[in-house]
Amino acid sequence: MTEASTGPVADVGVIGGSGLYELLPDVVEHVVDTPYGPPSDPVMVGAVPGGRRVAFVPRHGRDHRYPPHRIPYRANLWALRSLGVRQVLAPCAVGSLRPELGPGTFVLPDQLVDRTSGRVQTYHDHGAVHVSFADPYCPVGRDRVASVAASTGTEVVDGGTMVVVEGPRFSTRAESQWFAAQGWSVVNMTGHPEAVLARELGLCYTPIALVTDLDAGIEAGAGVNQDEVFAVFAANTERMRALLLRAAAALPVEPACGCAESYEQAGVTLP
Ligand code: ADE
Repeated sequence: MTEASTGPVADVGVIGGSGLYELLPDVVEHVVDTPYGPPSDPVMVGAVPGGRRVAFVPRHGRDHRYPPHRIPYRANLWALRSLGVRQVLAPCAVGSLRPELGPGTFVLPDQLVDRTSGRVQTYHDHGAVHVSFADPYCPVGRDRVASVAASTGTEVVDGGTMVVVEGPRFSTRAESQWFAAQGWSVVNMTGHPEAVLARELGLCYTPIALVTDLDAGIEAGAGVNQDEVFAVFAANTERMRALLLRAAAALPVEPACGCAESYEQAGVTLP
């Protein structure tokens, strides 16, 4: 079913990563337009067990037509907010920079390093709007995801730095070894500018990273390749889906953090 969007229809947004193109059965599709064009695909809204309404957008499009540097990040976040979303869960595939974080490991990053180049990373092209971004992710969201994971026996690594590279190529061994030497944990291609755009919209944003490969610096063999990333994500889709559904139900309705402070102080009108 396809509907034009009207008013708040969902509380939690999920931006699905590689291999996660559907989250819920029985969804209503919302075709949303934004000042930044359409999102990656119509937004699918359905209810998780417990009744909470969740809006899902596949980050790369349902047919994976958007590579990381071409994803309509601004439209995706704007579309979610215009549907009423205030909490965003962001599953993503990551390469590991540490041997102890093997494929299949869930990581809840608490820091981000931006190594992208040339991506539009703001809604504000005029005036002085400088959001606070010292802590890029919602601490309450991370805590809730860690708690639901623990309560269901799903192991997660709580904390770590995610470095986001421009791609679409993978990193060289030297780059990867340099990232690891900085103490960073995982590497991906989509975590920026998604997180900062969420912050500019006053949204709570919580990444859930799934390790799909050992990045080139700790891989003795040929290095990471795309088939490996997709295969490992596919093998773990059900684990990720189960964690997301429980996490969506466990996030606070009223934000209990400071994620919206910069947005409120900026006094700008957004959806
Ligand atoms: N996404 C999944 N694995 C990755 C890697 N090794 N580097 C960058 N992005 C990734």
